[in-house]
Amino acid sequence: MNISIVGTTPFVDQKPGTSGLRKKVTVFQTPHYLENFVQAIFDAIPQGEKTALVLGGDGRYYNRQAIQIIIRMAAANGFKRLLVGQHGYLSTPAASVVIRKQKLDGGIILSASHNPGGPDGDFGIKFNTRNGGPAPESVTDRIHDIASSLAEYRIMAADELDIDTCGCYQLGETTIEVIDPVSDYVELMEQLFDFTSIKALFNSGVFNMAFDAMHAITGPYASEILVRCLGAAEESLMNIQPKEDFGGGHPDPNLVYAHELVALFEQPITAPDFGAASDGDGDRNMILGRDVFVTPSDSLAIMAANAHLLPGYASGIKGVARSMPTSRAVDLVAECLGVECYETPTGWKFFGNLMDEGLITLCGEESFGSGSDHIREKDGLWAVLFWLNLIAIKKQSVHKIVLTHWQAFGRHYYSRHDYEGVDQGKASAMIEGLRDRLDGLNGRQFGNISITLADDFSYLDPVDGSRCDRQGIRLSFSDESRIVVRMSGTGTEGATVRVYYERYEPANGKLEEETQAYLASLFVIAEELMQLQSSTGRAKPDIIT
Ligand code: G1P
Ligand code: ZN
Repeated sequence: MNISIVGTTPFVDQKPGTSGLRKKVTVFQTPHYLENFVQAIFDAIPQGEKTALVLGGDGRYYNRQAIQIIIRMAAANGFKRLLVGQHGYLSTPAASVVIRKQKLDGGIILSASHNPGGPDGDFGIKFNTRNGGPAPESVTDRIHDIASSLAEYRIMAADELDIDTCGCYQLGETTIEVIDPVSDYVELMEQLFDFTSIKALFNSGVFNMAFDAMHAITGPYASEILVRCLGAAEESLMNIQPKEDFGGGHPDPNLVYAHELVALFEQPITAPDFGAASDGDGDRNMILGRDVFVTPSDSLAIMAANAHLLPGYASGIKGVARSMPTSRAVDLVAECLGVECYETPTGWKFFGNLMDEGLITLCGEESFGSGSDHIREKDGLWAVLFWLNLIAIKKQSVHKIVLTHWQAFGRHYYSRHDYEGVDQGKASAMIEGLRDRLDGLNGRQFGNISITLADDFSYLDPVDGSRCDRQGIRLSFSDESRIVVRMSGTGTEGATVRVYYERYEPANGKLEEETQAYLASLFVIAEELMQLQSSTGRAKPDIIT
């Protein structure tokens, strides 16, 4: 066996963020950069767990090259089995399914999620552990520590492996299995949802769907599940061919970037009944209906309220969790169901413990992520199937389902404003400045509302007792409104400041107002407290979702 031990020097910036290590492709192409980080991951895996991994990615630029390198490093590091998605494809949720179903020690997912791809775009590496979920902070901290003092990495000299043909290959002691990236995932979806009634919905002839895969990883999954298994028309799928640069687009399923899908809904006569999109690595989702965009926060609440109607959740839900900036719509559902609602920091990794411990069934984030304890990642197509199943059972439009929910629970008007590529120093100064003034803000009056809570969110994990501080500033008001401010942990250029606005309207109130207009009074308060315009150098946010 031709194993080299390559001397290297550490890179100081290999610190995983909200979701793995994300950098420009050009950074990952720096000699030894990828290898160093992969070796740090391997070294961070405890001795008895270095047996079997899965490897795949969202098909973005540099995916194929990185896979070949990681295959040779896994072989040199003594793994017994390495499962690799055919063509190097594996959606993030499918990786979680494979780890759990095949009882692997973990997985490496190559993706920068919804960030653009291509030679000048972004690349990323995420490590998932045995439960199929993102490595918790204790593990990512260990990876960072190891990477910070790494002196060498191991790699085997070998020819390029054919990752386009399913089958087994031997590399030294390591068996490489090139697997169908879709089949295990489909099997699990069939268990959770009533495929027969969804099929009937598509066959009814009165239901039109549009699904936009945004030239990212869900294309092959959507073709198999929606078209082949469920009988949706092939024309109902858009942009299903994965492309290394996502066709030049930004594979983030929101009203701004999924504009092709959104445009279909602007045609009053031909608009589909149901629309959905997913992101680069297939873990996000956006749900649209005629005349309605379902905010991810509302989507989570509606799922929680209706889960018992679906086969996979027929016995009810154990509890729910949402990230702190996500609206409190789901809190009201949990209260009504008599189950616990946990508030966690931003990032899916915080849900894992709660699910492993059996404390929650459903969880979600405002950033177009929702999921359940079927795996340990958020899951885009799962959410789409959940909604399709709900529509099939209720025989109601998306609009009707949403309105009925608001009429029962009230509506949390919600919007996130992003200021992208802001000067790091100015952004930090703005947030630090607000943080320093938090104590004095309690009770401060703004018109007819006042601040009832002003803090920097801390999370104490109820399962392992770990603590996370400084997770974002929360301002709650006497009328149940909230303003939340935090800095993104996934950007690769400058600082991205996220400001989240939420305002509650009771069930008997005005439920169908225009969101930005309804929230406008909160924008004024945010400006007064943070001088957003001068601090960010922007007259208005770059992205509003
Ligand atoms: C963003 C989202 C967060 C999500 C993460 C990974 O992180 O806000 O909810 O878990 O992407 O998809 P951020 O850039 O805000 O740190
Ligand atoms: Zn993603």
